[in-house]
Amino acid sequence: MAQILTLARFESGLTSGTRESVNFSQLVEEIAAEGNFEAQALGKSVSLDAAASVILANADPHALRSACENIVRNAIRFSPPGGNVEVNLTVRRESEQRVLLSVRDCGPGVPDEHLKTIFQPFFRFNHSQKAGEGNGLGLAIASEAVRLNGGSIKASNLVEVDFPIREVSETNSQIVQR
Ligand SMILES: Nc1ncnc2c1ncn2[C@@H]1O[C@H](COP(=O)(O)OP(=O)(O)O)[C@@H](O)[C@H]1O
Ligand SMILES: [Mg+2]
Repeated sequence: MAQILTLARFESGLTSGTRESVNFSQLVEEIAAEGNFEAQALGKSVSLDAAASVILANADPHALRSACENIVRNAIRFSPPGGNVEVNLTVRRESEQRVLLSVRDCGPGVPDEHLKTIFQPFFRFNHSQKAGEGNGLGLAIASEAVRLNGGSIKASNLVEVDFPIREVSETNSQIVQR
């Protein structure tokens, strides 16, 4: 019963119906600052690395805020004592210009087989019982809000390695191919 009530709230609370230009950089800055304030009380921190001002057109500011808050709060909750949550905002210039928000914590992560299911309503993984509050709706709300704003969301436990390159020469690529 409690779950049915929460689901009704979940569905009605998803969108405020407002559509406007949203300064996404500013929104993320506020969320990171508020998150850092909450994290400090737990001996943790939230840091932000943000690109220049990014404006989203025709966006729902309330839905976006709740989506990003949910993601940052999860990251704080699952961070070990002393842990820092890294929030990053990067502009990607690929086929179309997009902005990438990434939130990284140094907590236990999510087992690979659950990386998609964590976005389903009420899904909570065992270890989260220990981590206190929550109803398993946070990421379901976040993914719906992101989708309604034309975005996409995914979770990964990722190790990435890349190096700056000074130049790529024909000769080198031939050596690599040998
Ligand atoms: N940063 C994270 N680190 C580890 N597990 C996470 C993280 N964020 C989410 N999860 C997992 O995904 C589940 C669903 O998240 P969410 O929908 O926000 O629900 P809730 O926060 O209420 O548990 C969590 O219970 C947890 O198992
Ligand atoms: Mg949550």
